Parts: sequence; structure tokens; C-alpha cells
Amino acid sequence: MIFYFSGTGNSRWAALRLAALTGDRAQDITGLDKAPDCSREAQLGLVFPIYAWGVPEPMEDFARTLKTGSAFTFGVATCGSETGHALKNLAKTVPLSSSYSLVMPNNYILGADLDDEATARAKIDAAGRELARMAAEITARQPVCRVHEGSLAGLKSSLVQYGFRHYARSTKPFYVTDACNGCGLCARDCPAGTIRLEEGKPVWGTRCYQCLRCLHACPRQAIQYGKQTEQKGRYNIEDYITD
Ligand SMILES: Cc1cc2nc3c(=O)[nH]c(=O)nc-3n(C[C@H](O)[C@H](O)[C@H](O)COP(=O)(O)O)c2cc1C
Ligand code: SF4
Ligand code: SF4
Repeated sequence: MIFYFSGTGNSRWAALRLAALTGDRAQDITGLDKAPDCSREAQLGLVFPIYAWGVPEPMEDFARTLKTGSAFTFGVATCGSETGHALKNLAKTVPLSSSYSLVMPNNYILGADLDDEATARAKIDAAGRELARMAAEITARQPVCRVHEGSLAGLKSSLVQYGFRHYARSTKPFYVTDACNGCGLCARDCPAGTIRLEEGKPVWGTRCYQCLRCLHACPRQAIQYGKQTEQKGRYNIEDYITD
């Protein structure tokens, strides 16, 4: 079984592909309070995006409840460029037979802008080839560590990750422009269940993973995060893939 968490679709796409290539199933962890019984699974995979050189909180919580038994286990971290020590840190919670980073289009528009279209396309093509290689290694039960941690990995995955968790995930900067038509998609799809509609407009609670799904998926591009996102594009993996 391959479990995934995904804000904007990269990790979902990677998990579904890996499942298809290894003859397995993929399941979204959103809404699960704990891992199901996996004692009969021959392989267990965790696929997720990197957030500030760390593992997203919901995946970390899920991993704490996962009993891996004798399964071949692997972690795949999708990222814009580098993972830091995220996979090493995850392996302290779940024993990982294999660890991989998978470079995909960057969705973090609170800092940098999106990758341009050609770069995003090239990243997805390369990720497709890398997933085929991973699938062959996983099927052969070959332990592999192919992770691009980047520079100052330990520092980024401790100090910067701490700052992200404790200070950077405020929902206060979220606001909605007049383009919002009250369709309710953002409220239905927020994995933290933090958005509700009041008088036809979204209102944010306090809990937020900063997955950026609401920002990217709004069909009217009506959601902004302070001034940081006003001039930025939006990312939708469906614009790049056909499967
Ligand atoms: C809050 C946040 C922090 C991020 N931090 C990193 C990072 O530290 N390193 C990196 O390479 N990419 C980073 N990214 C980019 C994502 O990891 C990358 O685009 C990922 O593939 C998104 O996956 P998803 O579409 O499944 O949500 C960050 C994205 C977000 C939203
Ligand atoms: S998804 Fe966009 S248009 Fe729909 S309710 Fe949310 S902000 Fe408004
Ligand atoms: S509020 Fe937006 S960014 Fe935060 S968890 Fe929900 S969908 Fe993700």
C-alpha cells in the first residue's frame, strides 16, 4: 500500500504512478485518524511534499501510527529542489528500506514565484522517468537512498523547520477578492478542514498545514496570502499531465 499526502497534486500523481508501476494501491491519508492494519502488506510507501525541509505534519502524525511489520518500506519526498534531512528524520519514526527525493514543480508562492512552464514540464518528464526507475528498484526490493538533501541540510531541517511550524503558518494573511463566487471548493477541499463559508465567502480558522491547495485550486484565483501572492501564478498539475 502506498499512502500519500498532497497539497497541490504532485505527490498524489507520484503515488498513483508508483502504485500503477508496482501493482499496488495508493491511498490519501487525509481524514484518517490513524493508519489501517497493514500487517498483510508486502510493501508500504509514504509519498508527501517537502515543507521547509521537513515532513508535513499530517504525514508525520500518520507515520507515528503505522506498523510496518516485515514490509519493504519506502519514503518519497516530492520537492521543488531539495529535502534537507526530512527523510532521515522520518526514518526515526518509520524504518525506511529506501528513501527518495523527487524533484517536481515548485508550488511555494509565498516566497519565490512558480517555475516557468518549460521548467515545470521538464521536471515532470524527469520525475516520470525517475518514478519508473524507483518502481523497478522497489519491485526488486533493492534498498536505495537517492535523496538530494541540499546544503546546510541539518540546520534547515531543524531551525528553519521549527520556525515554519511555530511562526509561519498563520492563516491571518489569507483573504479573498471580489472574484470569489462562493463556489465552496476551498472549504470542501482543505485537508485541515479549516475553511468555512460565511455569507458565501471563505473564512479561515487557525489550523493550517500551509499546503497552499486553497490558493492554487481556486477556479477564480480569488485567494491571496497578504501581498506575497498577488503577482504570482497558480499551479495545477492537471495543466501538465494527461494521465
Ligand atoms: C509550505 C511549503 C514549503 C516548501 N518547502 C520546500 C522546501 O523546503 N524544499 C523544496 O525543495 N520544496 C519546497 N516546497 C515545494 C514543494 O515541496 C513541492 O512543490 C511539492 O512537490 C508539492 O507537492 P504537492 O503538490 O503534492 O503538494 C514547499 C512548498 C510549500 C507549500
Ligand atoms: S474556491 Fe475560490 S471562488 Fe470558490 S469559494 Fe473558495 S475562494 Fe471563492
Ligand atoms: S487553509 Fe489552505 S493552505 Fe491551509 S491547510 Fe487548508 S487548503 Fe491548505
